[in-house]
Amino acid sequence: MLGAAPAAGAPGADAVTHGAYLAAAAGCDQCHTDAKGGGKAYAGGRPLETAFGVIFPPNITPDRETGIGRWRFADFVRALRWGIAPDDSHYLPAFPFRFYNRLTDADLADLKAFLDSVPAVRAVNRSGGPGILSAGRAKAAIAAIAGRFPGPWLADPSRDAAWNRGAYLVATVGRCEDCHTPRNIFGAPDPRRRLAGASAGPGGKVVPNITPDRETGIGKWSQQDIINVLKDGQTPEFDFVGGAMAEIVRNTSRLDDADRRAIAAYLKSLPAIRTQKKGR
Ligand code: HEC
Ligand code: HEC
Repeated sequence: MLGAAPAAGAPGADAVTHGAYLAAAAGCDQCHTDAKGGGKAYAGGRPLETAFGVIFPPNITPDRETGIGRWRFADFVRALRWGIAPDDSHYLPAFPFRFYNRLTDADLADLKAFLDSVPAVRAVNRSGGPGILSAGRAKAAIAAIAGRFPGPWLADPSRDAAWNRGAYLVATVGRCEDCHTPRNIFGAPDPRRRLAGASAGPGGKVVPNITPDRETGIGKWSQQDIINVLKDGQTPEFDFVGGAMAEIVRNTSRLDDADRRAIAAYLKSLPAIRTQKKGR
């Protein structure tokens, strides 16, 4: 009898399959593919607005001249975990490496195996040399020293496997804190207000509190309500989340049910934080 292949998200799936699952969950493709401009997968993204000007996420296909085909695994780990390029410059935080910092070595290896497997595309990076971005890179270098980058995730043995899985997905590929946690003066997420919403998220918009506070957070949502919003974007009020969250739902819709359930269980377990007013 043939055993069923393990689910793509499950440990035991082969490296490329599991790497593809993580890349989909993180939305590496959404930033690194210029879908609107008809660009090839992972061959370089659409323009992103940053505080330092417009930046184009680079070509991360295995092309040896214009992509990352010459990178060794160590180069990849240094970029994703520490935000440092092979030429030792620091990446801008528009590349959410702060969250990929917490990926395990095994998951980084699977992501690299997956990227090595995509078709190499010759496409010169549009953001050009360090020129216009050097002020931003210098600031990123300072932030890297001031900020705390804890490194690979370690499971909490006092919690069960589902809780740990949810916490890991939120902290890494989900990067929920990128928008739902306000920033401190170093530009790092404020640990005292984890996931309690931000008054100035992407594009200056308000991002809601997703801790279980019943008045200002999502404490009245059931675990299934959270699973639903992650699956198809629909809230318990039969509304659909929009803006930056709609793009995240494209990622979480590609998770398997067990992983969405784990994220929901984790969010329900967080300490409730009361905020000024319901973020929106
Ligand atoms: C929100 C958008 C965004 C997401 C999501 C994202 N990236 Fe990026 N990535 C960027 C930007 C922007 C840069 C360039 C930063 C700079 O030049 O300072 C970058 C740079 C990189 C680089 C460095 C390439 C080079 O040539 O130096 C690699 C490798 C990379 N990303 C891989 C990934 C992987 C793998 C994922 C998914 C796990 C991912 N990225 C998700 C925006 C993103
Ligand atoms: C790129 C920014 C961004 C990221 C990353 C992000 N969110 Fe959101 N999220 C938003 C915004 C903006 C809204 C409000 C959308 C709206 O009102 O239409 C939102 C809304 C929500 C809501 C609905 C809350 C309510 O009161 O209606 C939930 C639940 C949620 N996000 C969970 C998550 C989870 C879980 C993650 C990580 C997997 C995540 N978000 C990652 C920006 C983000």
